[in-house]
Amino acid sequence: MTEAAPISAEYRAGSDPRTLRDALGCFATGVTVVTCLDRSGQPVGLTANSFTSVSLDPPLLLVCVKRSASSASALVRASHFAVNVLQTGQQPASIRFATKDQDRFGATPWSPGEYGPPVLRDSLGVFECAAHAVHEGGDHHILVGEVLRASFDSTLDPLLYFRGRYRRLHFD
Ligand SMILES: Cc1cc2nc3c(=O)[nH]c(=O)nc-3n(C[C@H](O)[C@H](O)[C@H](O)COP(=O)(O)O)c2cc1C
Repeated sequence: MTEAAPISAEYRAGSDPRTLRDALGCFATGVTVVTCLDRSGQPVGLTANSFTSVSLDPPLLLVCVKRSASSASALVRASHFAVNVLQTGQQPASIRFATKDQDRFGATPWSPGEYGPPVLRDSLGVFECAAHAVHEGGDHHILVGEVLRASFDSTLDPLLYFRGRYRRLHFD
């Protein structure tokens, strides 16, 4: 059984990484699925909440992909990738793209984007990117993409992630 996070705690370099994860989990995020085609043209992708805008001119964004992810080498090599921003109805897709041995693309409606990488149907937003740079960041690759096309549906609500759990927006 995993223990609940303590009400307050302190992490110091070299101490328990669980506490660091709990501290990082205080930063509420949306949820994305990052996709590309591998060298044989097969779709690959994973759930990622490390998505950040970087620059408007030129239009750049980044996502961090752990080096051990099965799609890491394809994402690092790909000429293009897509960041699919998920809405509340896509929580099953988020779980599927974060779980090993799932038929991720078989069970998720998708189609090739204008620039090739898979676009998940009914996403809240989609950023199709050309690979701009890959930086090394410890046990993650930092993928920087130049946005070639962005689309969104402002009628949908975002899927959120906070303190290790999926959340929804609620306005009082
Ligand atoms: C909400 C959420 C956010 C995640 N964010 C990231 C992330 O930003 N980068 C990353 O490498 N893995 C992230 N993961 C973990 C990967 O989705 C997960 O390890 C996935 O199984 C890796 O792909 P693989 O099974 O093909 O190796 C996240 C998982 C969840 C549930």
